[in-house]
Amino acid sequence: MTTWITICDTCKRDDWDENTHERTHGEEMAELVERHAGGRNVRTRRVSCLMGCKHGCNVAVQANGKLAYTLGRFAPAEEAARAIVDYAEMHAASETGRVPFRDWPQGVKGHFVTRHPPLPSEDDKD
Ligand code: FES
Repeated sequence: MTTWITICDTCKRDDWDENTHERTHGEEMAELVERHAGGRNVRTRRVSCLMGCKHGCNVAVQANGKLAYTLGRFAPAEEAARAIVDYAEMHAASETGRVPFRDWPQGVKGHFVTRHPPLPSEDDKD
């Protein structure tokens, strides 16, 4: 089951300024995550706004039939991008999307914002 990392490419952290930044923080983060995800067992996509603008940079980790998560408050940096991709690979390897806390990369700790249970399958109709 493929795990997707959805990266908000329009996030701007508090220190963003059009005079000093050519690109949004989200664009910088997307580029870093995409580079780290290359050749790994996850896929990436970009969206403009995950509605968590006050605590960017934001990403979502999702797969069909599994717990889904939004993570935020990342600065666009190599360590953060690597941790996000490492976590997403563990999500991909897990049956339910639940990755034991002891296995979380240090770089994602403290960055979880929301968790969404998977939707019921069509077979689960009442
Ligand atoms: S701009 Fe990134 S969540 Fe809204």
